[in-house]
Amino acid sequence: MAPETFAQVRLDTPRLCVRTPDVEDLDDLLSIYAHPDIARYGTHAPWTDLDEARAWLERAESGHTSASALTLVLEDRATQHVIGTCVLFSLHAESRRAEIGYTLHREHWGRGLMHEALTAFIGHAFEAMKLRRIEADIDPANAASRRVLERQGFVHEGRLRERWCVGGQVTDTDLYGLLHHEWRRPDVDA
Ligand SMILES: CC(C)(COP(=O)(O)OP(=O)(O)OC[C@H]1O[C@@H](n2cnc3c(N)ncnc32)[C@H](O)[C@@H]1OP(=O)(O)O)[C@@H](O)C(=O)NCCC(=O)NCCS
Repeated sequence: MAPETFAQVRLDTPRLCVRTPDVEDLDDLLSIYAHPDIARYGTHAPWTDLDEARAWLERAESGHTSASALTLVLEDRATQHVIGTCVLFSLHAESRRAEIGYTLHREHWGRGLMHEALTAFIGHAFEAMKLRRIEADIDPANAASRRVLERQGFVHEGRLRERWCVGGQVTDTDLYGLLHHEWRRPDVDA
């Protein structure tokens, strides 16, 4: 995968700038990941400390250097604050596939912002990074996430039973997949 598709990415959408994170985003990142609702369907407890944001940024930068993951932030163009993140990880260069993840600040749910961000992000993944397949692993109870995937055209490919155990709670996984040749860039209403 071309290294320039990992370095200093900036994707403009009507309400967002989806871009490479930097050290000035740490406070905003902590604010996103400290909210308990964000952790509900995730695999980590809510953050409590800025060090967790620093470690997140280090992992993001290391993924870009090694071309193993692409992590971007969603900057709200109106306020210039970072209000979300999106990531492509488990990148397999030969198979041209990766897994996708995304998170939006609790205060901004329900405005179609993740749909807007993912339309640009998935466009970058298929067109600049030349991925062939993107997959997502979601908690079957996460209706908003399922809807976000369906709007992009992801197809439900199966249920993996009792795949996760987080904080003692066992959950299934719904696996979704999207292929480049079947993706049609959706309309974005800002
Ligand atoms: C998943 C998430 C990114 C969605 O972002 P968002 O910008 O609020 O999404 P949208 O505003 O586009 O809304 C998503 C859709 O789900 C629907 N929805 C939201 N909550 C719902 C619920 N509890 N039940 C059913 N549908 C729901 C909305 O009506 C909307 O449907 P529409 O597109 O037909 O109008 C956000 O909720 C989030 O950050 N959640 C926590 C982190 C997370 O779960 N990440 C995904 C891990 S795989």
